[in-house]
Formats: sequence, C-alpha cells, structure tokens
Amino acid sequence: MDKLVINGGKRLSGAVEISGAKNAALPIMAAAILAEGEHHISNVPQLRDVRTMGRLIANLGAGFHLEDSTAILDCSMIKNFEAPYDLVSTMRASVLILGPLLARLGRAKVSLPGGCAIGARPINLHLMGLKKMGATIKLESGYVLAKAKRLKGASIYFDTPTVTGTENLMMAAVLAEGRTVIENAAREPEVTDLANALISMGAQIKGAGESMIEIEGVSRLAPMDYAIIPDRIETGTFMTIAGITGGDITIRKCRPDHLDALINKLQDSGLRFKKARGGIRVTGPERPSAVNVKTMPYPGFPTDMQAQFMAMMCIADGTCVISEKIFENRFMHVAELRRMGADITIEGSTATIRGISRLKGAPLMATDLRASASLIVAALAAEGQTTIHRIYHLDRGYEKIEAKLQALGADIRREKE
Ligand code: EPU
Repeated sequence: MDKLVINGGKRLSGAVEISGAKNAALPIMAAAILAEGEHHISNVPQLRDVRTMGRLIANLGAGFHLEDSTAILDCSMIKNFEAPYDLVSTMRASVLILGPLLARLGRAKVSLPGGCAIGARPINLHLMGLKKMGATIKLESGYVLAKAKRLKGASIYFDTPTVTGTENLMMAAVLAEGRTVIENAAREPEVTDLANALISMGAQIKGAGESMIEIEGVSRLAPMDYAIIPDRIETGTFMTIAGITGGDITIRKCRPDHLDALINKLQDSGLRFKKARGGIRVTGPERPSAVNVKTMPYPGFPTDMQAQFMAMMCIADGTCVISEKIFENRFMHVAELRRMGADITIEGSTATIRGISRLKGAPLMATDLRASASLIVAALAAEGQTTIHRIYHLDRGYEKIEAKLQALGADIRREKE
C-alpha cells in the first residue's frame, strides 16, 4: 500500500491539465454493452475504477484494452450476464451494467453494492424504474436477478434525483419498446455526456440535462467513437488548492461552465477567475473568507466538492456552516482535519467551521475518495509534514495527482508503507 508525504506551506503556481471525468467514463463504458462491434472511448482517465469497469465488461465476454487514454471495448460477444461480488464490492458504479445488460441480453445478475463510507446508498430507485419497464426483479443471496424479454417504455418519477439511477434507466430505455419518460431526473453533466454518447450510437433521447428526459426506444444501436468530458470535480479540487495556498493556477482542458455553483462560492471567498487560453486562471486570496454552502443535486453545489471546500474553510477568516444534503455520512474527513488543528463541530448534517490561521501537518488516514482529496488540499497549506495513509481511495479518482501537484511546485511524494 502507498502513502503520500506532503511538506506544506508552498504557494502553488503554474498550469495543470484536467483528465477525463471518471463519473462520465464509467457509465459510457457500460453503455458499450448495448451495441455489438468495437467502441472507441477517448479522454478516459487512467484510474483503478476505469480498469475495474473494463474487467467487469470483459468478464461478460467483451474485449477490453486501454491505449493511453482511449478505452477500446469490443462488445460483439456479450454472453455472460453476471457482475460478481468481488468486482462490485470494490466499485459501486458496477451497478451501471444492470440496465444495459437487461436491454442487451434480457437478463442480468448483479451483486448488490451494499453501503459504503459515505452512506447507505440504496438502489431502490434503479429497481423501481426497471420494474416499471416490465422487468421481474428478485433479490437472492446478495444479488439482484433481473429478467425481461424486451423492456417496455414507461413513465418513471424519482422521489429524489439519482445520478446512476437516471443513467441506468436511460441505458435500459434506449433499446426498449416505445417511449420512456424520466421525471425528476438527475441533471449532472455526466448524465448529459452519457446521453450524448448514446445519441452518437443512434439512440433517441431528448431533455438530458433537464429534469424531464424522454427516450424513444430503437431496435439497434451502433458502436461509438466518443470523447469523455473533462472531470469537473478534479477541476474544482485544483480551484480549492489555488484558494488554500494563495496560489495562481491555470487549469487547462476543463469546463468551468459545469462548475457555476462552486465558482460562485469561491468568488465569495475571495478567489479570482480569469478566462485563459484553453481554460481558466484561478488566483487565491491572501486568506479565504468564510462562506456557507449547502450541497444539492446539480446545478447546486456538488457533494463531491464538499470535503475539499471544507478543507479550505479550515483556514478561512470567520466562521461558516456547511450542510451536506445528499449523503448521510459524508463528514469522515472532519476527524482527520481536526487532527491538523481544525476547529469543526458537527450536528447532524451540518458542520460549523471556525477558521484558524494555520493548519499543522499530521499523520492522517484517507477514508473515501473525496475525503482523501480534502486531506491533500489541507496538507498543501499546512505547516510542516503530513503523511496520508490508505491512498488507494485517491487512486480511484485522481489521475497522476502527485505529478500534477509537483509540476505546480508542491513538495509531495508517494512512498510505500
Ligand atoms: N438514492 C436513493 N435510492 C436510489 C438511488 C439513490 O435513495 O435508488 C439516494 C442516495 O442515497 C443519495 C441520493 O439519492 O442520498 C443521490 O445519490 P445518487 O444516486 O445520485 O448517487 P450515485 O449515483 O450513487 C453518483 C456519483 C457519486 C456522487 C453522487 C452525487 C458516480 C459513479 N457516482 O453516485 O460520486 O457523489 O452521484 O452526485 O457517478 C465520487 O465520485 O466520489 C462519488 C461518490
């Protein structure tokens, strides 16, 4: 296992290039199951989750390999319909193969993902939608067993917008008989990117990015040649790094228009943004100001940026309140930030952060992906040395993080435990 050793206190500056979005790459790879032939998916980040999704699809009978940042999937020979526990348990997004498998083979057996470090994360809404489309669903020995001769279009309403739920049902609906309408659908850019990939394969989808999506089923889809959008959460993480280190970072190959809510809050906190060639230049203030945030489904403030924003608020001028409205247990980073001297109290889904002038380096434990990122953000600005253990979480979501940070002047290195 690896750990990161960071000597903080440096003002980071320079340019960084953003990788493709993990949470767009995973559903788009799953969408390849829907059509025979060779799919080329470019701008895929080289991450453990991407390799896990590739293995999962290869396990169904497909060919999979990565050529630099292009995933090549040959889905001519999908025969197997099972996603086994040992793969699903390492990556919840495995559940994304449920919809496409059911549409392609009429059968799927997918291990239930179970809870994770940030909450219970049920998939009841995915299953409700598939049932409405005519699938029979059974839960047996920890597996979801789904069957349907041919799925039928249906009218589906989500009590709460779900990102992978919307994606799963969209992939099921593109080959269903007739029209499917998803109301209160998730509007995240990754959902729109998946819709665009499906449209490039011949699917008929209207309204992706809005809360009502309409899908008219077709009988066949063609393989895709598609490029993934840039990762908005990686982009946002570098913005908070500019903020906490008083840095000057030009972020290239990114889509700032996917981050309006975050940029607004960062501006309130004193960061400055300027359009730059191929991206955006972010300049941090002398000291950030405290700003309240509440996480919400897109276009609200992303839950995946809550931990990194909180790290920045630890040294802000003033007191702020951060409310987590998406997941019930997403404050695992708080105990670690406190070990660095942060003054944070939690009550239910609300954290109150009283800014201190300086964090101090400490040995820390990463608990989930975005919590790990927040510890890096904090460590970069802290006085002295921080060691972050269990960084395998980080390798699920951030491509070449230490090389990108070193290029900005950070003193960070990876070591074996
Ligand atoms: N929910 C239900 N029932 C369901 C599905 C969801 O009650 O059937 C609830 C969840 O418990 C949660 C809320 O709905 O309270 C929203 O969860 P959602 O389903 O949207 O989350 P997800 O699809 O499992 C994706 C991302 C997460 C990101 C969330 C929220 C992927 C692969 N994962 O998860 O990303 O936090 O949307 O934006 O797209 C990450 O990258 O670190 C990460 C956790």
